[in-house]
Amino acid sequence: TAREAHLTIDPAFRVAPVRRRTFGTFVEHLGRCVYTGIYEPGHPSADEDGFRRDVLDLTRELGVSTVRYPGGNFVSGYRWEDGVGPRERRPRRLDLAWHSTETNEVGVDEFVAWCRKAGVEPMMAVNLGTRGIAEAVDLLEYCNHPSGTALSDRRIANGAKQPHDIRMWCLGNEMDGFWQTGHKTAREYGRLAAETARAMRMVDPDLELVACGSSGSSMPTFGAWEAEVLEHTYDVVDLVSCHAYYEEKDGDLGSFLACSTDMEYFIRSVVATADHVGARLKSRKRIDISFDEWNIWYLSRHQAAEPPRDWPVAPPLLEDHYHLADAVALGGLIITLVRNSDRVTAASLAQLVNVIAPIMTEPGGRAWRQTTFHPFAQASRYASGEVLRVEPVSPSYETAEYGEVPLLHAVATRADDGGVTVFAVNRSTDGPLSLEIDARALGGVRVTGATTLTDADVYARNTADQPDRVAPRANPHVEQDPLRVLLPPVSWNVIHLG
Ligand code: AHR
Repeated sequence: TAREAHLTIDPAFRVAPVRRRTFGTFVEHLGRCVYTGIYEPGHPSADEDGFRRDVLDLTRELGVSTVRYPGGNFVSGYRWEDGVGPRERRPRRLDLAWHSTETNEVGVDEFVAWCRKAGVEPMMAVNLGTRGIAEAVDLLEYCNHPSGTALSDRRIANGAKQPHDIRMWCLGNEMDGFWQTGHKTAREYGRLAAETARAMRMVDPDLELVACGSSGSSMPTFGAWEAEVLEHTYDVVDLVSCHAYYEEKDGDLGSFLACSTDMEYFIRSVVATADHVGARLKSRKRIDISFDEWNIWYLSRHQAAEPPRDWPVAPPLLEDHYHLADAVALGGLIITLVRNSDRVTAASLAQLVNVIAPIMTEPGGRAWRQTTFHPFAQASRYASGEVLRVEPVSPSYETAEYGEVPLLHAVATRADDGGVTVFAVNRSTDGPLSLEIDARALGGVRVTGATTLTDADVYARNTADQPDRVAPRANPHVEQDPLRVLLPPVSWNVIHLG
């Protein structure tokens, strides 16, 4: 028999509006994300600009809002000028971050053109690793200034008459990380980020600027880093970043399925630090979070691998093939991001295609949806209007990493037309949960639809040959009075009420 869980939905439990930017992703010059990912001129589906139409279609279906670019670790050694102008004159460079050769066939103009086709908003990162204020301001002038200066006219000469009008800018990437080219202390980075932000705001005062927070909640400088960086940057930035990756370690599926517990702790800690700095500075402004790298990543496996020795072009790096349990863990992370929409106002799933990504491609061949595609696409599609806090009453289980954790993890959103969608994960590995929903405050609603993403084999994957092995299916176990839905073990669920 199924164990019982309950949740109550009340429109009064409003958290914040659903932030469209929660459904952002990330395209880095890394492995096959750009080359043979979004761009492959010889591919049968390539359009007149060399962009793969199959990947564009899947990007639209995924419901992506923003795309962060061009890195990641890559940006910390990047010279943006290499990637503009006639292709035959663009230099090939060593990319120190990924020990690859960068051909620069794709640069900022191509990326923005791709964004327009995909219907997504570009989010740009500047290099504060090997470069500084001048180069960041140059890139901003190139991208956003209408015309009449050397750099804006150069953009026009390169074919982009209209300014790119990029609103969100990341001030470097993971500058707390020892692996970063140009790694800095919090003081060094905080000063540089503040001065870069001030200069960029002189060009365009309305930019939304993101300061680098910690690369993970287990970083040795976590907390102290945010505090010092924000001391320097508080008045000139809008957001601070968080990055987090999770993986199943040593076969501990129970802890892995509860990894959103760490994300929740991470968000609360950063909010507390930011608000503490704000109070100390007597600021009336609030700094929000851009969770601009998050995903499942089997990092320990990749770290064990040798870096490529021969500086290859677009080698297959970080190509994780996700299974059902990965998708359910990822669904739990989405629930946590949405639950915290009052302070997490932007997020980027890292990354979009091939590199730890929901979309996979074969060079010259097929493209398909990984298991992790589905929770993201469904949440992006159905989360709208307002986020409602739901307080689940659920049996719990003991995990090695996080102690006692509820089996049910959930959030709800209420659309402008009053329709409510519940997103729910059952973390149990050994049985279904019978979820009873108390929606009396909504007045006489019914379950109008329910889907579940699950599989008898928690390690089932999608492949080019079997692309739909794991996909959301209609959930047949629905009762109307009282409202009740059966959530299979290790499952991601979407329930519509109306
Ligand atoms: O997304 C892969 C890498 O993870 C990024 O380049 C870096 O910012 C992070 O460490």
